[in-house]
Amino acid sequence: MTFEARPPAKVNLTLEVAGRRADGYHDLRSIFLRVGLSDRLVVEPGGADGSDRVTVTGFAVGSTRDNLVTRALQAIRLHTGVDLPALDVTLEKRIPVAAGLGGGSSDAAFALKLATACWGVGISAAEELALAASLGSDVPFFVADEVLAEVGGRGEIVNWLPSERLRFGVVLVTPPIALRTARVFERFDVMNPDPRSVTTAGAVASEALAGILWDEPLDDEIVAWSRDHADSNDLWLAASSLEPSLVALRAALEGGTGRRWLLSGSGPTLFAIYPSAREAADAGRALAGKQLPQLQSAVMNAVDLVGPDPIWRYP
Ligand code: C5P
Repeated sequence: MTFEARPPAKVNLTLEVAGRRADGYHDLRSIFLRVGLSDRLVVEPGGADGSDRVTVTGFAVGSTRDNLVTRALQAIRLHTGVDLPALDVTLEKRIPVAAGLGGGSSDAAFALKLATACWGVGISAAEELALAASLGSDVPFFVADEVLAEVGGRGEIVNWLPSERLRFGVVLVTPPIALRTARVFERFDVMNPDPRSVTTAGAVASEALAGILWDEPLDDEIVAWSRDHADSNDLWLAASSLEPSLVALRAALEGGTGRRWLLSGSGPTLFAIYPSAREAADAGRALAGKQLPQLQSAVMNAVDLVGPDPIWRYP
């Protein structure tokens, strides 16, 4: 039997770095939003040669030997202690890779779900969450399968937020820049020797957004929040000091659209919020039409909060 899913991307509406931990990670407070841009993942019983086969199409990923999907399968085998048979996995990458959009983490979360289903292995929700956290900090959000959540700790604390009434749209711009998450956090540490001693812009933005979100928010309130709290991501200064072209890109996007643009995760994806998905698609089209030099080779997607596919994409 074949099992299939559409692992979605996320953006971080806010990202507050609350402190450094003894294990080298950072305590975060981040509001995650699932968006309508997804990979495609298919899991089925494998061939006779006894080893898992992972075939990737679309955006290039590194070696499949140590990618998060392969690691998810190994994590289940280790956890159950059973020599589970080989699987054939097909992954169609439509979410830009290493972009701050959580694509690899989402693939891992859904690989856990599909592989356990294919093998007929029963694991509890708590076991699934623990396996997810062992694979990466962003994986628990995707296992929780929520649209909007406040994520805490290293990423393993996921508190759902109501989103039923939200219909806003997002334009995502991913420049062809490689930014390793670990390097961005390292730079953050150098720039912020004692992050606990200051109230960061990310903390202020998180507080303001959480206040809106708990009270049945309207799309316009989220748009207004993004205008007033665009510096919602504490990793912006670290990411843009490692990659100064991000500063020029953000300025070009803000000049070209008259909107504020926010950073997702550790970058390099920048995004802007529009009152509807249609307006986001119109804005994306207008932006592409401007042929801005800073946007050369960038991937653009205009998305709603449902998906699985974007309303508009470029190229
Ligand atoms: O957990 P994940 O492998 O996705 O994290 C990648 C890197 O990002 C970690 O090695 C760590 O340097 C940094 N990180 C962090 N604190 C977090 C999440 C990630 O320092 N909460």
